[in-house]
Amino acid sequence: MLGDPRTRRAVIIDTVFEQHLRDRALLGELDLRLVAAVDTHCHADHVTGAWMMQQSTGCRIAISRRYRPPIQGVDLPLDHGDHIPFGGRHLEVRATPGHTDGCMTLVLDDGSMAFTGDALLIRGAGRCDFQHGSAHTLYRSITQQIFSLPDSCLVFPAHDYSGRTMSSVAEEKAHNPRIGGGADERDFVGFMENLDLPHPKHIDVALPANLRSGQPVDGKVPRPADWGPVRQTYGGLLEVEPEWVADHLQQVHVLDVRQPEEMQESLGRIVNSQLIPLNELKARLSEIPRDKPVVAVCHAGMRSGQATVILRSAGLERTANLRGGMLLWSQLALPTQRQRSGT
Ligand SMILES: [Fe+2]
Repeated sequence: MLGDPRTRRAVIIDTVFEQHLRDRALLGELDLRLVAAVDTHCHADHVTGAWMMQQSTGCRIAISRRYRPPIQGVDLPLDHGDHIPFGGRHLEVRATPGHTDGCMTLVLDDGSMAFTGDALLIRGAGRCDFQHGSAHTLYRSITQQIFSLPDSCLVFPAHDYSGRTMSSVAEEKAHNPRIGGGADERDFVGFMENLDLPHPKHIDVALPANLRSGQPVDGKVPRPADWGPVRQTYGGLLEVEPEWVADHLQQVHVLDVRQPEEMQESLGRIVNSQLIPLNELKARLSEIPRDKPVVAVCHAGMRSGQATVILRSAGLERTANLRGGMLLWSQLALPTQRQRSGT
């Protein structure tokens, strides 16, 4: 995800269907408006989240126009030399075919970063044995389009199966065992044609879905919950807004995880809430009714966030944190029940 801090416009590269809620949360938390969901190529190992992003943000779907037949749902077809603007910045498109015929490398306008997809990987290169791949073509793509970038240009590939995320043009020129250190086309092709790789595990699911920009045929899309307007944060917590909870108190079970002495304080407590302090929660899980979704609350929404983690790991999937806790609840003047001392 790249954003222009001045205009708040952003692009996302190679977003993944299953990670849609996470990526959507980050856009929201950073106050970014997505202009385009760009795929470096038609992937074979995961389903793109481009269609989901278009549905939830109104962004455009961008991928190479070189695929035959063309990818369905694309409204920003790209080719070599195109620019993808986001606010005052842009990505430059460089065609780098070889892994697939529509592979692109996306270069940030100042030449400081290149998103190489599966063309150039960290100490590797994308396989060329399916999806119209060609090791000869990939050799020329990498040497002419990527190794011609400044040595200082950082390289961000689409994958790394060892957990590495970043390299540089200089590093890969020097140390890439397939194409670095003066390897010529024969060396590279000989290496690539003898990789002996297994058939990709997810290709039978991923490829047909990616030909539709990731639009699911069964209509099933990632949702945080089916019982209310629950939002997932980039931190992975599920949250619900206090106004909604106040309007739906009959449909949810409110679990207050503050310490008993906090009940005497001015914030009060939510009507019919159950009190189980966080430090007793694990031992008292059986006291929590399971017929309604559980909304956890505390003073400011931190401890109750941890309570939702404990509840979910105990099998109470229908649970969410009350955003802002009793502090926000009282700022919004939502109804409380005051406790008399001693009760
Ligand atoms: Fe790929």
